[in-house]
Amino acid sequence: MGPTGRLRVWLPVHDNRVMPPEHLTPVPLDKAYRLLNHGPTVLVSAAHAGVVNVMAAAWACALDYTPPKVTVVIDKATRTRELIEASGRFALNLPARSMAALTVGVGTDSARTVPDKLQRHGVRTFAVDGFETPLVDGCVGWLVCELLPEPRNQEVYDLFIGQVVGAWADDRVFRDGRWHFELAPDALRTLHYVAGGQFYVTGEPLQVKPSGP
Ligand SMILES: Cc1cc2nc3c(=O)[nH]c(=O)nc-3n(C[C@H](O)[C@H](O)[C@H](O)COP(=O)(O)O)c2cc1C
Repeated sequence: MGPTGRLRVWLPVHDNRVMPPEHLTPVPLDKAYRLLNHGPTVLVSAAHAGVVNVMAAAWACALDYTPPKVTVVIDKATRTRELIEASGRFALNLPARSMAALTVGVGTDSARTVPDKLQRHGVRTFAVDGFETPLVDGCVGWLVCELLPEPRNQEVYDLFIGQVVGAWADDRVFRDGRWHFELAPDALRTLHYVAGGQFYVTGEPLQVKPSGP
């Protein structure tokens, strides 16, 4: 049995598939927005008709609490977009600091011109039973989304809206509905993209009360 209490399965869609990570823990859907609230760069994964792909996206954001929804900007030039539009599904995966070079790699190469880009950048995927969309191994948060088609947004703004139907996190850094990066190895902190291969890494917690009397 897997960490979700369900049977572990492999997706028969690409060579670098692995078992779900040991620390994978479900996140209640009403807390899923907290995986994105601090603005991490994500990896967008999608699959259709046996083809799996992954790209980087800095422009991903929470949109609603219940049911949880997210937005992500996906350029027309990307192969990932084709897979999302064809399958109606995608996942947002939160890469850790240790995956910064991989993130820039899959955000630079396109599967259109580099068909083996996942192998080239060492991307391994896994699936959780009951969810077809491949998830990226080594990440610290995962949100599986069903596309809420909004053709005008997609065409004019490259803006995709997804309803989150499954969420998980690495319980070394996210538990009880909150991140705890300060209590785990720095390699597990999330990434915030600037440009030109430069990121900031999620920093120290700051707990405050509202200002005013
Ligand atoms: C850190 C980083 C963030 C990126 N953010 C976005 C984004 O938010 N939206 C987007 O369309 N492309 C973004 N890109 C570019 C895509 O990841 C890139 O076009 C990728 O090669 C597409 O791959 P594909 O054609 O195999 O799907 C980003 C690239 C990097 C390196």
